[in-house]
This record gives sequence, C-alpha cells and structure tokens, in this order.
Amino acid sequence: MVPSVLWLAVAWAWGVLLAPTPTLAADEPVPFEVLVTYHSRTGNTEKMARAVVDGARSVPGARVVLKRVGEVTNEDLFTSDALIVGSPVYWSNMSGEVKTFFDNWQLKFGVFPEFKMRNKVGAAFATGGQVSSGKEVTMLTILAAMLGNQMIVVSGGGAFGASATTEGDSPGIDEKELAAARELGKRVGEVTVLVKRGARK
Ligand SMILES: Cc1cc2nc3c(=O)[nH]c(=O)nc-3n(C[C@H](O)[C@H](O)[C@H](O)COP(=O)(O)O)c2cc1C
Repeated sequence: MVPSVLWLAVAWAWGVLLAPTPTLAADEPVPFEVLVTYHSRTGNTEKMARAVVDGARSVPGARVVLKRVGEVTNEDLFTSDALIVGSPVYWSNMSGEVKTFFDNWQLKFGVFPEFKMRNKVGAAFATGGQVSSGKEVTMLTILAAMLGNQMIVVSGGGAFGASATTEGDSPGIDEKELAAARELGKRVGEVTVLVKRGARK
C-alpha cells in the first residue's frame, strides 16, 4: 500500500505541472512598455511625439519612454513591447537620422538576423512642411522597416499613422494634429495589450 503522504506529493506535483500559465482577469491592467522615439530639428515632430506619449499613457498598464532616435539603446529596444517612430519629412522620405536609427538595428544593435523586434507592435508619425509632399511616404517607409523586422504594424490617428503640416498656411502643430497623435499612441497601447494578453493565454 502506498503511503498517503506519497499520494499527496504526487497530487501536488501533478497540480503544479498541469497548472495553466497564470492569466490576467479581464479587468486587470496588463503591464506593457512603449518606446516613442523621434528626430526633430525645429520642434514640430517633438511636439507630436509628446502627444503620442500622452495617448499611450492613457491606456492602463502603460510605461512610456520618450527618446530621440540617437539616444536609443539596445535595452530600450529589446525591453519595449511597442515602438512608435516619428520623423520630419526630408525630401519626401524619413530624415537621415531616422534612417540611420533603423540601419543601426543591424549595424549596431544586432536586431537582425535573429529578428529581435519580432511581434512587437510598431507605428509611425510624421511632420512635413507641405500638405502633400511626402508625409505618407515617410510613415510608410518607417512601417516598411518595421515590417521587414517582422513587427506587428498598426495605424491610428490617420490611415498610416498621425501626421501634421507645419509650414505655409498651416504653421506649427494644431489641436487637431495633436489629437491625431494622441489617438495613435492610444491605439498602439490598446493593440499592445491585446497582443500581450493573447500571449498569456
Ligand atoms: C532637408 C529638409 C528637407 C525637407 N523636405 C521636405 C519635403 O520633402 N516635404 C515636406 O513637406 N517638408 C519638407 N521639409 C520640411 C520639414 O519636414 C518640416 O519643417 C518638419 O515639420 C520639420 O520637423 P521638425 O520641426 O521636427 O524638425 C524639409 C525640411 C528639411 C530641413
């Protein structure tokens, strides 16, 4: 006859081994980290970046880090669950600083070939002097770099991300543009929660 204490030990081990990974209650905030990074020479893209941060912070569980692209470290990238990149339009595309940031994923940070940004949520925002002179191309090329790294790319605040026109008849960043930036940050936060919650099931 097997002693009952042995049965108890077997039952305990069985319970531990078969216990499901802890899941979160539907109303419990999922902790997540968003990195918002940007290049800005004259302050417009930085203003949008700050509004993106506000939007992301409005989602419960968010921890948001804001940095210029040149200041981002390996650790910032790898500990983030989501990345939102902003650029001024330079000749209808992202600025050289933002391109260098992405090039450094391979040259400096070792993101590739292991795809270390895989399944993180990604999004873009841009500011441009003119109404139609490259904002959408700029956002799409940022998103293309993320797609190439197997990130989960989302929009918000506009079809391809949030953007603002900063010169001519529309100088600076207005309240509507800031609202779009907040909307982008919020959407990224919400989708990141969905992805993280799904991964825990
Ligand atoms: C080198 C350079 C190229 C630019 N090229 C464009 C362009 O192709 N299309 C556009 O709409 N604005 C262009 N601009 C204007 C900037 O995109 C715009 O002023 C932007 O809001 C600047 O952002 P920042 O204040 O964050 O530096 C260019 C500006 C510079 C300095």
